[in-house]
Amino acid sequence: MKWDGSFAIGIEAIDAQHKKIFERLLAIENSVAKRDPWHILHFLLAQLAESMKFHLAVEEALLEITRYPGRQEHREAHARITELMAELEDKLEHNAPGENLVGFFEHWFVRHVLADDREYARYMKEQFPALGARESA
Ligand SMILES: [Fe+2]
Ligand SMILES: [Fe+2]
Repeated sequence: MKWDGSFAIGIEAIDAQHKKIFERLLAIENSVAKRDPWHILHFLLAQLAESMKFHLAVEEALLEITRYPGRQEHREAHARITELMAELEDKLEHNAPGENLVGFFEHWFVRHVLADDREYARYMKEQFPALGARESA
């Protein structure tokens, strides 16, 4: 799946991280479609895990600093993403039909960005207008 401008939540640093994650997901998708050998796919999955781990930690820190009221639920959603990512890696390693698995994970991630991430972005831009300043400039 390609990054789409409509996925933006209006906080520049976060959008850049989401974009990176989409790029890495797309690389995995292509690799699965090409039936690349496992060591290549494994490398791409490790890259995804690295970007995701960094991103989730940044978001969680941001939610904590800004005292976002839904931070507990948000952390739980992140734990689920991490779980799904580990499942994805495990299933791909054992040669499960990859396309659907990657698609499923992508779907889940997009839903999280569009619903949950957007929700905290709205809160943050309300509380700290400077965060969204570039968007309206
Ligand atoms: Fe996010
Ligand atoms: Fe999130």
